[in-house]
Amino acid sequence: MEDVTDTVFRRIVRMAGPPDLLVTEFTSTDGLCTAGRPRVIGRLRYTTEERPLIAQIWGNKPAYYRRVAAEVREMGFDGLDINMGCPVRKIIERGSCGALIRNPALAADLIAAAREGAAGLPVSVKTRIGVTESRAEEWLGFLLAQGIAALTVHGRTVVQQSEGFADWDAVALAVRLRDETAPHTRIVGNGDVRTIESFHRRAEETRADGIMIGRGIFENLFLFRAIRGGSGTHDFALLSPEEKVSWFRRHIALHEETWGHAERFDVLKKFAKTYLRAFEGAGRLVDAIMRTRTHEAACAALDSWAAERGVLMHR
Ligand SMILES: Cc1cc2nc3c(=O)[nH]c(=O)nc-3n(C[C@H](O)[C@H](O)[C@H](O)COP(=O)(O)O)c2cc1C
Repeated sequence: MEDVTDTVFRRIVRMAGPPDLLVTEFTSTDGLCTAGRPRVIGRLRYTTEERPLIAQIWGNKPAYYRRVAAEVREMGFDGLDINMGCPVRKIIERGSCGALIRNPALAADLIAAAREGAAGLPVSVKTRIGVTESRAEEWLGFLLAQGIAALTVHGRTVVQQSEGFADWDAVALAVRLRDETAPHTRIVGNGDVRTIESFHRRAEETRADGIMIGRGIFENLFLFRAIRGGSGTHDFALLSPEEKVSWFRRHIALHEETWGHAERFDVLKKFAKTYLRAFEGAGRLVDAIMRTRTHEAACAALDSWAAERGVLMHR
């Protein structure tokens, strides 16, 4: 997820309770192959503890896909995923991501180019079910004919953006089509899974091989631990305020160590709400964090919160 699953947050998520696979932010193949490279290459930065890790790319030029896929393999990623679902208008207008649903010929060329460059590294696709209306059967069937390792289906159309509810019947349909025509492709369902109960319900209803969770992690950082039934608390909201602040401090420290002072501080601030929630004064503390502009200032805001409460915080 853009501005979310960078190398820092992926490590936090693994510490909190690991999923089976993590995926990078989507990364522009145009960016990687042109002068814009320094601005985007950080999206592919990772440490080995994040693996297995999939690199997600987007763009509309097969030659760039070939080149980037080879690079992703050399960088040691465990797979390459192609974004064919992002609904951002600027991107759609350039014929990339969600727009590929209306351009199957180019979609097929991009997949073929990626597979060529990836030279054996698994290549997968993440997509939606249509542009203005669902064309799940035709589009998912087409993608399944391309010999991809996995297909992630987010059960919304492009114009729906994040509105309404994800259509999980489309995930079940993808599983059936796969059973009939592409037995080697794994199906991953995605959309609105935020609890252990919905995880299990969707898995059972659809028989999908995997469930992808995006926004649910903001609501419960321990969601993957909960799903695995691992030891420790399964609900981040039940931690003490001090423990929640400690998790946020860990994120701030890793962020500073990784990105230094200049980059991505505004992105870091957006995480305040993930950690500082469900306790008295959490809202005020989030507001205080939002007013900061440096790692030191953010830590100082947490220190003064702790001093007010008369607690000594672990650093
Ligand atoms: C802030 C944000 C950034 C996202 N960035 C990406 C991305 O880079 N690549 C991608 O495939 N999907 C991206 N998505 C979409 C999610 O992966 C997911 O498909 C969607 O949010 C529905 O699943 P969820 O309900 O589990 O979040 C993003 C979503 C959000 C909210």
